[in-house]
Amino acid sequence: MCGIIAYTGNQNAAPILVAGLHRLEYRGYDSAGIALHSRGKLHVHRAAGKIAQLENKLPAKLSGKSGMGHTRWATHGEATDANAHPHTSQDGSIAIIHNGIIENAGMLRTRLEAEGTIFNSDTDSEVLAHLISKQSADTLIQSVQHVLTLIQGTYGLVVMDANRPGEIIAARNGSPVIIGLGNKEMFVTSDANAILNHTREVVHLDDGELAEINPKGFSIRTLDATEMVRSPITISSEFESQDKGKFPHFMLKEIHEQPEAVERTIKGRLDHRFDTAHLGGLNLSARELLDIRRVKILGCGSAYYAGISGANMIEQLARLPSSAEPAAEFRYRNPLIESDTLYIVVSQSGETFDTLAALREITRKGGRVLGINNVVGSTIAREVDGGIYMHAGAEISVASTKAFSCMLACFMLLALQLGRVRDLSPQQGKELMQAIEQLPSLIEEALTQENDIRSLAAEYCTAKSAFFIGRTNAYPVALEGAQKLKEVSYIHAEAYPASELKHGPLALIDPDTPTVVVLPDDNLLDKSLSSLQEIRARKGPVISITNANDPEIKRLSNAVIKTPRCHPLLFPLVMGVSLQLFAYYCAIAMGRDVDQPRNLAKSVTVE
Ligand code: AGP
Repeated sequence: MCGIIAYTGNQNAAPILVAGLHRLEYRGYDSAGIALHSRGKLHVHRAAGKIAQLENKLPAKLSGKSGMGHTRWATHGEATDANAHPHTSQDGSIAIIHNGIIENAGMLRTRLEAEGTIFNSDTDSEVLAHLISKQSADTLIQSVQHVLTLIQGTYGLVVMDANRPGEIIAARNGSPVIIGLGNKEMFVTSDANAILNHTREVVHLDDGELAEINPKGFSIRTLDATEMVRSPITISSEFESQDKGKFPHFMLKEIHEQPEAVERTIKGRLDHRFDTAHLGGLNLSARELLDIRRVKILGCGSAYYAGISGANMIEQLARLPSSAEPAAEFRYRNPLIESDTLYIVVSQSGETFDTLAALREITRKGGRVLGINNVVGSTIAREVDGGIYMHAGAEISVASTKAFSCMLACFMLLALQLGRVRDLSPQQGKELMQAIEQLPSLIEEALTQENDIRSLAAEYCTAKSAFFIGRTNAYPVALEGAQKLKEVSYIHAEAYPASELKHGPLALIDPDTPTVVVLPDDNLLDKSLSSLQEIRARKGPVISITNANDPEIKRLSNAVIKTPRCHPLLFPLVMGVSLQLFAYYCAIAMGRDVDQPRNLAKSVTVE
């Protein structure tokens, strides 16, 4: 959600900033801009739309050995040239780029306007540039520091002063800021992906910290001016290049990467000696695992849906009462935090604001929190008591696919480990391990249905609305299938537990409203078939995703997508793949911008 890149060094900054913006574009893509320091001035170029539109507007010759760039996801003010960052002070001496929200911007703006300041945008961020320029401190960092005490809200902030060539000030509160260390050059970014082609040595700022950066080095201090010492960490080479390879879109590439991604999640985590999973990062002894009485999972969007499935797995295998809840709602209901509950926050990016806020609420109240995260060193990963890295590799498409599957694989491993310290027998453990080991090849097999799914999507993509239904553990799969379809194709889609259909939504079933039924071969198959009957009786088209062989399914369905048979707790990973392909091909048939759907951003770092 908005991306930040800044550079100071001996190279021409413009190409570094533009390339960085391209790597950040998946985080926000409604407008973009850069500011370059050259000959005592800050030169700003901005454009509404994608980075390509900004590039079209850039002069052929750009000079400057330091600068900043931003890609925006609008919060305050429409996506226009004027609202794009960087924003400057009235005299042009200060330029800022900002991720986050300044909550008291309205009051500050009124005060500044009363003093005669003229604003050029509708954004909350612009107040920062004007306020900083009005300070008379000796150093830029002192001016920024003072202004940050005046504002309320969240920020990942970069500031440059026309009168201080090569100097960059960065600050963080609730929105990530990473300093990249090069050879006589330094980078600042909100997402390590943007600078990995330059350096893997990074330093993360913590909330309430500012950094003063020049080509030779950096120093960090807190808002109350306490100097901080921070050693750089090296980002592993697991982050692959942001290249679509042979695929037309990142979404399709990431769908196809799932067999290897899930394999990486599982790798080295199954302990054949004791027929259990071994998750070293939990930081919990067997005794502590045994003391857990309840599990509560929190996440947003697809991570929340993965959490519902994870709660089912843990409750089934470890016989612990388990539930999932949207992270955004959690902290507002003054939740009871119990010392014998294991709290799990799930987030691909590890930066989702609402998930982070839930984690902090639990931590404040003394609860123990585990993270299931993909991005190593992300804020959530650094603040949890222990966790499981997904090792899905970089996920660039805004619509999550491989991360969702890897989240499910993490939950399965955790459920197995929790189960084995309780009453799951070695034999049951062994069977589950065998089933888990088969997952990559089962996903591979599910992917072979791609051509059939493409034809099906071409047939149904003109629907205005669709339902997705499933029972128990098929319900989170239905939720995720509906989420994928709406995100990338913009077809209205709703998911329901199959049993709920007759309590209201059935009123909307008609010949133009298809229902996608997630139909695993389990003890509820007959009951699910009754739902199919109810839909068919109202002339609603039925698309069944199933690994069952019951001839009734074919009779009651307009179309059937077969998926491979698997362990009853693992079908969400296998059937989810078919629904991802269905959403992808509906979007393609509708000519949508699959990787960067309208109004969305990859990582939601605002409330
Ligand atoms: C998934 O397709 C969505 N883009 C979205 O729901 C996402 O899962 C959610 O915003 C949570 O993101 P996170 O996993 O990075 O926390």
